[in-house]
Amino acid sequence: MKKILVIGAGGQIGTELVLELRKRHGVHQVIAADVKDECVDALKAGPYVKMDVLDRASVQLFVKEERPDDVYLLAALLSATAEKHPDFAWKLNMEGLFTILDLAKEGYIKKIFWPSSIAVFGPTTPRKNTPQYTIMEPTTVYGISKLAGERWCEYYFNKFGVDVRSIRYPGLVSYTSLPGGGTTDYAVDIFYHAKKSGEYTSFLTKDSALPMMYMEDAIRATIELMDAPKEQVKIRSSYNLAGISFTPEDLALSIQNNIKTFKINYQPDFRQEIADSWPDSIDDNAAKQDWGWKEKYDLKLMVETMLKNVDPSKLN
Ligand code: SER
Repeated sequence: MKKILVIGAGGQIGTELVLELRKRHGVHQVIAADVKDECVDALKAGPYVKMDVLDRASVQLFVKEERPDDVYLLAALLSATAEKHPDFAWKLNMEGLFTILDLAKEGYIKKIFWPSSIAVFGPTTPRKNTPQYTIMEPTTVYGISKLAGERWCEYYFNKFGVDVRSIRYPGLVSYTSLPGGGTTDYAVDIFYHAKKSGEYTSFLTKDSALPMMYMEDAIRATIELMDAPKEQVKIRSSYNLAGISFTPEDLALSIQNNIKTFKINYQPDFRQEIADSWPDSIDDNAAKQDWGWKEKYDLKLMVETMLKNVDPSKLN
């Protein structure tokens, strides 16, 4: 039976990924790891280990003992937080990756998943329908770390045969756990406020189009990429994934179709500059061709699902 380790399991992606992997492989086959003492409630049914990905020696010890087949390395600082702590963001986002890539190179791990992001693109990238291969001059610490990470993933595949796979996630929208520190997180916050007070102040302008995706699609994409036969995974840097492109205004209008009285205000802050440097929409034909990717959620279905499931009491 396959053994899986998910590092950064308490985060927005990690929580839902562990739940889905446990459904498929069995609760005890999927070890959740995170830097916090306590496991998040949603994952308490299965194994949990406190792990600081920057503590290379203890990560090595754990992996050499447990010998997981697949490792999902999700521990990272997102774009807005990374701008506030650039040194730490660079350290966290890169060092953990090297530790895991080296363990795979030495034969202790069979397959790695490492998330990249639309943040690898920058202001000089074509904004609409951004191609897989294009100008990449990111201007955020987060984007620089993700682009460097992509290059290292491809390098370890080419030089050492490390089976590493990656997706450039768009902004992710979900209700199980709250996101933290991302520029696209307005598209999650808005649902909590819509249900709690019927009003939301967006930190991005109304016409800031960004590529987004509902979490269920993102998790399915991740698992489908990891399950794809090796020879179908032709890109070893990271795959573009499109999802749904929308603006805060589009999202507000769609929420108003469900909550007529919902009101949105706009008060852009430092995150606007980050959003302005990212694409509006993404071309994900390579993912479609290579491993058969197809998204399920459109804006309407995403909004309805979020409004049904978001628990506004989770908001402080
Ligand atoms: N959602 C991320 C962020 O906004 C982008 O990968 O930081």
